[in-house]
Amino acid sequence: MTDSMIAKVLVTEREIDEIGTRIAARIDEDFKGRDGGRLVLLGILKGSVVFLGDLMRKLKTPHEIEFMKVSSYGAGTKTTGQLKIHLDVMRSDLGDCDIVVVEDIIDSGRTLSYLVKYLKERGARSVCTCTLLDKPSRREIDFTADYIGREIPDEFVVGYGLDYDEKYRMLPYVGVLTPEAYTGSAK
Ligand code: IMP
Ligand code: MG
Repeated sequence: MTDSMIAKVLVTEREIDEIGTRIAARIDEDFKGRDGGRLVLLGILKGSVVFLGDLMRKLKTPHEIEFMKVSSYGAGTKTTGQLKIHLDVMRSDLGDCDIVVVEDIIDSGRTLSYLVKYLKERGARSVCTCTLLDKPSRREIDFTADYIGREIPDEFVVGYGLDYDEKYRMLPYVGVLTPEAYTGSAK
């Protein structure tokens, strides 16, 4: 069973709910009374989908959603900060959009720092960033998100959208896998 592969729960279902409520309230506050502009939550596939879905239902401010899918080019291009875009935002009115990029976790900082730059270059009205989890000790590029759910230590985590080999995304909490989960020696 999936649950039996979890050595330790790091962020409980209840804490995740509290994080979502807190961040939604802050976004509502920050976007209150702005003149014009369409609030757009931009989820980074696939890890952010569960968090994004919960955030949508907690936000009182009317908003739209979009998605992007990106990946690293690989070790050779590490210093350039380049990412490969697999799915882009297909809209031409970014100049009217206040974008909140929604991520599952920040590790090296590469993904979000690149995306903020990219969306600004495409003319977005404003861009800010939101992440459920943050591993500041892993940073390779100096980057701080505007909305941070919780900092976690340098451990590989799964659940609530985050995967290992496409598994464990459906868990309602965030946890650390047992060593057996990596070797595949347990069922
Ligand atoms: P960054 O560009 O290094 O900040 O990469 C962040 C991305 O790496 C996230 O969107 C995740 O897809 C992935 N990632 C980093 N740490 C973890 C983890 O502990 N579990 C699952 N995915 C992770
Ligand atoms: Mg991701």
